[in-house]
Amino acid sequence: MTPTLSTTATLSTDRRDSHRPDGDRPDAPRPDGAKLVVSSVTKVFRRRGSITEALQFVDLHVDEGEFVCLLGASGCGKSTLLSIIGGLEEATSGSVRVDGDLVVGPGADRGMVFQGYSLFPWATVAQNIDWGLQVARWSKDRRRDRVDELLGIMSLREFANALPRELSGGMRQRVAIARALAPEPDLLLLDEPFGALDAQTRRHLQDFLLGLWQRTGTTILMVTHDVEEAVYLANRIYVMSARPGRITQEVTIPFDRNRGAGIKRDPRFLDLRDRLAELLG
Ligand SMILES: Nc1ncnc2c1ncn2[C@@H]1O[C@H](COP(=O)(O)OP(=O)(O)OP(=O)(O)O)[C@@H](O)[C@H]1O
Ligand SMILES: [Mg+2]
Repeated sequence: MTPTLSTTATLSTDRRDSHRPDGDRPDAPRPDGAKLVVSSVTKVFRRRGSITEALQFVDLHVDEGEFVCLLGASGCGKSTLLSIIGGLEEATSGSVRVDGDLVVGPGADRGMVFQGYSLFPWATVAQNIDWGLQVARWSKDRRRDRVDELLGIMSLREFANALPRELSGGMRQRVAIARALAPEPDLLLLDEPFGALDAQTRRHLQDFLLGLWQRTGTTILMVTHDVEEAVYLANRIYVMSARPGRITQEVTIPFDRNRGAGIKRDPRFLDLRDRLAELLG
């Protein structure tokens, strides 16, 4: 039997029956006031005669200033969903709206950090950060100031002219986050940004991202399969089933934004972590 989170003080909601395709769901995500609304999104890949149903009626929303994590096992469709939200992949059916506008392609309103390293290998750190600003047609002066600001925030100033291959993994991920943040997107989409890093660097960057969210209040949707990372960073978590990916649980985290590593010893943190881990198997 699939374990579920009980409806106790952890405020969990079982969402397993929330994927009826008729658009008449009593618990459909709030269309008003949300930064991001994903409604009944499905995705079927057809390739050389084989059919893969990656996503099945996914509903979710992210409100302004929220940090939401999407948690699920490998292959459940997390990257596919993030690509659809980023406008890089088309949904088979359903819709994605940002600030009420239908997403039909990539846009400067959404910054994306892809799974794995995705910097331009031939471009320097500064040029990588500058890329999105050029696309968004910022003026030369504004671009220079913004790149310099981000190099400072990310502690990368002395590596401004280095190439990605000359950086450590953690530094590359900081560049990737800086590149996504540069054009001041309304919504930051992160696909397992720390997946390939060692435990210590990962913790360091988690704290860095938490600090960034605390300072800027940027709206963040982050994919991870690390339960502890999700409970530490998010104010809300969606849990996805194995493929075809559906949202099976929605969990509100009972810690406010001004949290620190101390919550990792809080019994509520440990309880949530253990029960989510059990849920993911
Ligand atoms: N372009 C594609 N063509 C065909 N099938 C695809 C394509 N992209 C993804 N898939 C399939 O869709 C399913 C979901 O893949 P996806 O990459 O979204 O999973 P994921 O949850 O991000 O996994 P992981 O945690 O390993 O990154 C998988 O079965 C994958 O093989
Ligand atoms: Mg993935």
